[in-house]
Amino acid sequence: MAVTVNESVKIKTPVFSHITSEDLEHIYEPSEDTFLLIDALEKDLDFIKKIHPMLCLEVGSGSGVVITALGSVLGGACQYLSTDINFRACQITEETGKINGVTIKAVCTDLVENLMEDVKGKVDVLLFNPPYVVTPSEEVGRGDLEYTWAGGERGREVIDRFLPTVHSLLSSKGLFYLLVLKENDPVDIENIMRQQGFICRYVMTRKTGPEHLSVLRFSQS
Ligand SMILES: C[S@@+](CC[C@H](N)C(=O)[O-])C[C@H]1O[C@@H](n2cnc3c(N)ncnc32)[C@H](O)[C@@H]1O
Repeated sequence: MAVTVNESVKIKTPVFSHITSEDLEHIYEPSEDTFLLIDALEKDLDFIKKIHPMLCLEVGSGSGVVITALGSVLGGACQYLSTDINFRACQITEETGKINGVTIKAVCTDLVENLMEDVKGKVDVLLFNPPYVVTPSEEVGRGDLEYTWAGGERGREVIDRFLPTVHSLLSSKGLFYLLVLKENDPVDIENIMRQQGFICRYVMTRKTGPEHLSVLRFSQS
């Protein structure tokens, strides 16, 4: 009797041994949240492949391991772009891609400001692991390492600036993956996105130490 084996594709963690301890004094070190986002993309890979993505964009790419991980399984038919407010993170993202065989163009900008005109309506897979930690508002965007995690009130200050741009970035089949913390009030985020016509799915949820993290996927159908 023939046996069908479900061989789901595994996403390999990209090599990031080129990132030095000195780099990590300036950029976000790949952490539990980073790996949760990669695991969620792995879980959703068949769904992602079905839309035949031609353009993937990661906002706030940090070390670049997330977009590199996705690029290593989607291959060269797709174009990979990233942004970060931190110039060093952009340089390291491109290096991470290169070392792992993925060509990434990294743009140093606030969210997608300098990129919007070029990618409007074209992004098939949009990724964002934002600064989500609840902090005083004054800590948001101060100094390079603080940009990486400080999210201000409810950890939502950067997320809330980004949400209104999602609809105009995505292609009609586009998917948006957003990592959130319980304190960010994911139900409220879901409601905001529903008003823009998005359906929300919880792809993965994990408790790591004190953090209760989820990866949400937004699509238009
Ligand atoms: C939590 S880290 C995630 C880094 C990486 N994507 C990962 O998963 O490991 C958030 C990233 O967003 C970047 N960032 C913060 N504010 C930003 C902004 N306004 N525009 C672009 N990038 C920003 C930070 O520099 C940092 O690299």
